[in-house]
Amino acid sequence: MADPGYRVLPTVADTEALGRELATDLRAGDLVVLDGPLGAGKTALTRGIAEGLGVQGRVSSPTFIIARQHRAGQRADGPPVPMVHVDAYRLTGDLDELDALDLDTDLHQAVVVVEWGRGVVEHLAERHLRVVLSRAPDSDVRTASWEWVN
Ligand SMILES: Nc1ncnc2c1ncn2[C@@H]1O[C@H](COP(=O)(O)OP(=O)(O)OP(=O)(O)O)[C@@H](O)[C@H]1O
Ligand SMILES: [Mg+2]
Repeated sequence: MADPGYRVLPTVADTEALGRELATDLRAGDLVVLDGPLGAGKTALTRGIAEGLGVQGRVSSPTFIIARQHRAGQRADGPPVPMVHVDAYRLTGDLDELDALDLDTDLHQAVVVVEWGRGVVEHLAERHLRVVLSRAPDSDVRTASWEWVN
């Protein structure tokens, strides 16, 4: 999944499955920036990534806590890695704010997944996986495109 891609996602299960596939590429220190409107499936995709990484704890919307930390667990296809799930919706400006959160998890040792992160967190890593989700009106169908951006 290192190549850019595009997929139509008819159901939430498809979105989660894409997350599991994208996770096979992810290693400690990697940053995933999720872009897309309200309800586009950013959290659903994160749930799939978490499953693929095998991290502990249930993924839920981090809206009211900014960042949720998931400990490393069993991983089928790579070294175990923790995941930090961030909601940047209410973070403004540069993400020294993330450092300021004083997380227990070292971000360089984790996979960091950021909802609403576009334009806010890219500088945290040399490259990031950008996933853009979009949603058709009055339909469950979502689409996703993804690429690694330097
Ligand atoms: N194809 C689909 N992919 C993802 N979610 C879907 C799909 N079809 C329906 N849904 C539903 O849409 C909602 C998507 O919510 P989710 O919380 O993942 O979006 P979000 O982008 O994280 O929203 P927010 O901007 O509020 O954080 C869920 O209720 C999910 O069940
Ligand atoms: Mg969400």
